[in-house]
Amino acid sequence: MLRGAPLLDLIGNTPIIPLRMEPENRTIWAKCEFLNPSGSIKDRLARTIMTDAYSRGLLNEDSDILECTSGNTGIAFAMIGAACGYPVTIVMSERASGERRRIIEHFGAKLILFNESGYRHGIELTQQMAAKDSRYFLPRQFENPLNAWDHEHETGQEIIRQTPGTIAAFVSGYGTGGTLAGCSRALKTANSSTKIFAMEPAESALLAGEEACCHWIEGIAGGFIPKLLQGIAIDGTCKVSSPDAIAMTRRLNRQFGLLVGSSSGANVAAALSIASSMPEDAIVVTMLCDRAERYFSTRLFDS
Ligand SMILES: Cc1ncc(COP(=O)(O)O)c(C=O)c1O
Repeated sequence: MLRGAPLLDLIGNTPIIPLRMEPENRTIWAKCEFLNPSGSIKDRLARTIMTDAYSRGLLNEDSDILECTSGNTGIAFAMIGAACGYPVTIVMSERASGERRRIIEHFGAKLILFNESGYRHGIELTQQMAAKDSRYFLPRQFENPLNAWDHEHETGQEIIRQTPGTIAAFVSGYGTGGTLAGCSRALKTANSSTKIFAMEPAESALLAGEEACCHWIEGIAGGFIPKLLQGIAIDGTCKVSSPDAIAMTRRLNRQFGLLVGSSSGANVAAALSIASSMPEDAIVVTMLCDRAERYFSTRLFDS
């Protein structure tokens, strides 16, 4: 068994809470992924990929976990590496908030920063490093099918168990696409009438056929359509502008006491817009992906 199992048991099985939105007169069902132990939905894929690698004998005492990430996956692997006794090396953009960098280093992981925008450069860097040094184990969150598998068999099943009736719509942003792909498969299999919507920054709405540009919604839309979304049944997209995402995040922070980051605000804004075109009692589910403390130095906390 992978050392660190007590920590791994804290991951997943997060609650869903109903958010009564007034004056819109709608209820949004929000899955509280920020309650995972390192503070984000990414704990799930880190646990599943590490457990799988360990059980298949892909990890040994020299292994070093090497991943490119916008931050949350890095924090998740750094936490699990600390608990399970594996060194972790994280490659991330130097534009990622200082808080995320400091949390990763605080867990004892090594950080390599790059200054290009988007993930592509970082992913290539990890591939080059792994080609030269066999100690590196690459979780490959952007293409590893276990990422979406985990959301299909865990997150999606939890959502089905936790909601009080037929789910009319599921709304989620995408980074790797794992959440959207996996939950969509689970929910469509359980009920083919459930509609799946991809939330995208209005400034970078690639699935809507527009150009990728700069946005402030942390943790999503890295400037390309991820492989894990290929062949996934998506019924529609919903654009949320960066200012609207920040405004809804502050509403979640101040009106509901939920200290979540900007992708959670963007998800709820999109879910509310979709729920507004549905009957008042329609069950619309979305994700509160991460905690706000890692964004103190970003626009979210600008007064
Ligand atoms: C804050 C936040 N929200 C949403 C997502 C999207 O998750 P996924 O990678 O499963 O598409 C991520 C992923 O990086 C994230 O960090």
